[in-house]
Amino acid sequence: MRKDYKRYTITSALPYANGPLHIGHIAGAYLPADIYVRYLRSKQKDVLYVCGSDEHGAAITIKAKKESTTPQAIIDKYHELNKSTFEKFGISFDIYHRTSAKIHHETSQGFFTNLYEKGEFEEIESEQFYDEEYKQFLADRYVTGTCPKCGHDSAYGDQCEKCGSSLSPTDLINPVSTLSGKTPVLKTTKHWFLPLDKYQPWLEEWLIEGKKGEWKSNVYGQCSSWLKEGLQPRAMTRDLDWGVDVPLKEAVGKKLYVWLDAPIGYISATKQWAIDNGKNWEDYWKKHDNEEDDACLIHFIGKDNIVFHCIIFPSILHAHGGYILPENVPANEFLNLEGEKLSTSRNWAVWLDKYLEDFPGKEDVLRYVLCATAPETKDNDFTWKDYQTRNNSELVAILGNFVNRAVVLTHKFFEGKVPQAGALEAIDTQTLEELKQFPDKIAESIEKFRFREALSYVMDLARLGNKYLADTEPWKVIKTDQERTATILNIGLQIAASLSIVAAPFLPRTSEKLGKLLNVDVSDWDNAGSDTLLVAENAINEATLLFDKIEDEEIQKQIDKLKKPVTVEAKEVTPQKEEIAFDDFLKMDIRVGTILEAEAVPKSNKLLKFLVDTGMDKRTILSGIAKHYSPEEMIGKQVTILANLAPRKIMGVESQGMILMAENKDGSLKLLQPNDLADNGAMVS
Ligand code: 2FM
Ligand code: ZN
Repeated sequence: MRKDYKRYTITSALPYANGPLHIGHIAGAYLPADIYVRYLRSKQKDVLYVCGSDEHGAAITIKAKKESTTPQAIIDKYHELNKSTFEKFGISFDIYHRTSAKIHHETSQGFFTNLYEKGEFEEIESEQFYDEEYKQFLADRYVTGTCPKCGHDSAYGDQCEKCGSSLSPTDLINPVSTLSGKTPVLKTTKHWFLPLDKYQPWLEEWLIEGKKGEWKSNVYGQCSSWLKEGLQPRAMTRDLDWGVDVPLKEAVGKKLYVWLDAPIGYISATKQWAIDNGKNWEDYWKKHDNEEDDACLIHFIGKDNIVFHCIIFPSILHAHGGYILPENVPANEFLNLEGEKLSTSRNWAVWLDKYLEDFPGKEDVLRYVLCATAPETKDNDFTWKDYQTRNNSELVAILGNFVNRAVVLTHKFFEGKVPQAGALEAIDTQTLEELKQFPDKIAESIEKFRFREALSYVMDLARLGNKYLADTEPWKVIKTDQERTATILNIGLQIAASLSIVAAPFLPRTSEKLGKLLNVDVSDWDNAGSDTLLVAENAINEATLLFDKIEDEEIQKQIDKLKKPVTVEAKEVTPQKEEIAFDDFLKMDIRVGTILEAEAVPKSNKLLKFLVDTGMDKRTILSGIAKHYSPEEMIGKQVTILANLAPRKIMGVESQGMILMAENKDGSLKLLQPNDLADNGAMVS
């Protein structure tokens, strides 16, 4: 990636308009992009930041069915809600568009037609899953099952959200229709496939060779492993009744694949923005005669979107021709909540719209915490206690406290006017030298997409201010030396003024407040670091608190909200068995063990054979769970076993114990596992 571009086209993944936004969305694709964009704007760059609602695909129709309403009602509701939530949270899109717009349908159909006319697509008749009860083909999310790559038991037909693998419905182990809950059948249908295999050599060159050492290792690594496996043609059309019509007479009733049209949404959003603002959209997307004039395209996404943005969309742009390609795709990993995966269905999330209601005026606090704990290189955890600590011990105690001291003392000793600096002492020159280094240091981290690091430097600047005031003690010096106090407070205020600029991308509302307080223009990065940002004798305003302490009760309320149990109603319960004596229970030796090896038992579709480390020994146990768990996903799992069950021969193999399971009404089995890692051999009592 070059250092300097004339123009920047920045995108954040278009969220499905099928539900409200939570902290995981923000931490993944929106806050980092917003920080980056705000920084570029303050470097006076020509930058366009686009996003919008993704309103097609099974995500929408499944939600509509769940809520017994129409897809249109769903997208209208969540488009408006999410648009306003982003706005309130300070995510500064230049346009928040929607893929249901006419201009988007036309743009994506244009792409399809272009590729079709060039003969890029392969027309393939294939067998696809079909729900006989609902008389519908089951595209993508209409099928769930076990991921063949990582064993995750609720992978979607198009993708496993756990390992990020891109899948086809027929790859899933034990596929189930999300409509009827039944096993689907296979039926023939025709679709248009993008020959990703044909683009593989080009991708090897553009991505594997071209982006090595430039792209984040999590992104580059995922891409390399897909390419290593070998790319397959991927269907770009679907048998659905919601989406963009395939612009072919012979494809009546078929729609474009949502992952074909969604990223084109970035382009149609740009077109709409250009119309609204008298600009030329092509400046931000098309290749120019002189490469130097090309815009720098950067996609901010979560890790589950890597394949679509790094392999499929670039292949589409490449096949079309004339378009720029992403310079970088700084995808983030996932954010967990209180140690558990965020889950919309289990309501295990911090919803942004609710947060904004519960903590009015505290958008920047959440921005701060989400940036400070961003899952940049690995999955990370958000906890309410950490949120409280970071607010109270960092924002209040370091940043707020420093600014407050500098402003209050200026009012107290110099009638609210910036005092004139006099002769400098060693501590002053040293502090000013350090101040000068900060903007470049922070900028460098931002440009490398290391936002956590950049934010920690912003806080270090506030720490520098605090330390300077603590070391120079103006509140004491004033008693004997007004001139020296003036110098100290001048320097203190210059640090605060620089802070108002470098904090702006991260904490825009706070920076605006601070800028108003000090009468500083916070919009020009290159002014930061100077020791003459504030002019002597200029007035500053009365101190207002930038942050306030968050009490335990407020945090507890949020934790309690999460703890509301989600119960699954049992429709019919097997009657309790005959009473037993306590001694009977004690006879059972139940232990924790770890599955070391797992394999299918030949000629059995039910049984899996395991080698289990019981802490006492390593033994073979057979279990009838092949329909519910794959051997790969069982390896490494901790389970509970009945260890002293008399050995039994099953299909010629001796099983030396039993793995304990819970059986649901529908016959599905769930492993009984310790909540946290336990010692092998630990007794269950
Ligand atoms: O994963 C998602 O939420 C998708 N709606 C992201 C789409 S990004 C882009 F391609 F539009
Ligand atoms: Zn997986």
